[in-house]
Amino acid sequence: MQRFDAVIIGAGAAGLHCAGIAGQLGAKVLLIDHAAKVAEKIRISGGGRCNFTNRDAAPPHFLSTNPQFCRSALARYTPQDFIALVQRHRISFHEKHKGQLFCDESSDDIIAMLVRECAQGGVTHWQPCAVHDVRRSGDGFELDTDRGAVRGSRVVIATGGLSIPKIGATDFGYRIARQFGHRIVETRPALVPLTFDATTWAPFVSLAGLSLEARVTTGNGKARGEFLEDLLFTHRGLSGPAILQISTYWQPATPIRIDLAPHQNLPDVLLAAKKTSRRRLGNELAELLPRRLADTWLADRPDRAEKALPEQRDRDLLELAASLQRWELTPAGTEGYRKAEVTAGGVHTRGLSSQTMESQQVPGLYFIGEVVDVTGWLGGYNFQWAWASAAASARALAACATTSESGH
Ligand code: FDA
Repeated sequence: MQRFDAVIIGAGAAGLHCAGIAGQLGAKVLLIDHAAKVAEKIRISGGGRCNFTNRDAAPPHFLSTNPQFCRSALARYTPQDFIALVQRHRISFHEKHKGQLFCDESSDDIIAMLVRECAQGGVTHWQPCAVHDVRRSGDGFELDTDRGAVRGSRVVIATGGLSIPKIGATDFGYRIARQFGHRIVETRPALVPLTFDATTWAPFVSLAGLSLEARVTTGNGKARGEFLEDLLFTHRGLSGPAILQISTYWQPATPIRIDLAPHQNLPDVLLAAKKTSRRRLGNELAELLPRRLADTWLADRPDRAEKALPEQRDRDLLELAASLQRWELTPAGTEGYRKAEVTAGGVHTRGLSSQTMESQQVPGLYFIGEVVDVTGWLGGYNFQWAWASAAASARALAACATTSESGH
């Protein structure tokens, strides 16, 4: 039976990065993935240009049952560390928006970089190769795989979350975690469009395709989320960065609140316009908002839309302003894992070391990347968590390898 210092399951963002670092630090590493190609999620990320990190990534940009857990790994492997790696590989990139860094050319550049790093670390790849069983054996682990049994002093689970099953996402990581006695924080689709029941949404279907900046909030207290980003109307509900962000905070059967004119004080603007303008309300509103939105908003107030501003009652203008700036509605659900960029929840961090990602109850077993209950905002944060948690575990793997006989 072949023996390795570390067997890493999942050759995605976290698994590849972990394998490369651990291999280069001296560990004998096997990297297994059931898919024929590595890192399919990196390939499709950032619209094909991979938003590989965020310059400003910091703990407040991550959700977890234990918000402090990500702190150590993020501090010890920073966006600057990953940027330095990207620069060493001469990959050109640019900042798009709010610290988000994208490849100039293609996500494939990041994948090729990680694969080269693995080659430099002498990493062995088994792909496509399914893992059927992972069990404790002596002070290490034995795994049954499509290519036979293999032994690892350490095992790293880097199999990601449940989103986009058609490119290889599985619940493998959660199953292994449960098998070894770990708690799982209930998983749910996140960074995902929100949907509404057909009756609620009927008045807005005609707005599909309209995008505008909006402030969206949900929840209260520590669970409150608030984002000022673009919002997109779709045939089934709402999408766009503002909605993807808020979806991670949204709890079923609770409302979201939307300000569709976040840079204006509509009550003041409309009351002032009443004194100075003779325009019809419909035309005035279309000066303040996209015309399609203004028309839709006034569609069930047709008598008011046609009247000139001086003939409007103050209280009607205030009601209209409130409906646009304090629009409250309760989503029926989300577009699900089929469309979600990430999975919120996952392996409970109370069972893991925040320094090394090692299981507290099963020495030698590690969980990294999205399978862990750490979920980043939209904007490169999830990859930064994958890189940082991978680096944390890789250092620990290498430290064990150099003190064990099987180190090469
Ligand atoms: P990842 O999913 O990358 O890798 C898991 C690997 O495990 C896969 O290779 C899979 O085949 C393998 N695997 C699964 N089950 C297995 C099994 N049973 N046996 C063996 N192997 C198994 N984030 C970001 O920061 N910036 C961005 O631009 C984007 N964009 C983006 C777009 C889209 C469409 C999606 C779906 C997601 C993003 N993300 C993102 C999120 C980001 O892709 C994600 O958080 C990371 O890829 C997570 O890295 P992991 O290595 O944990 O999982």
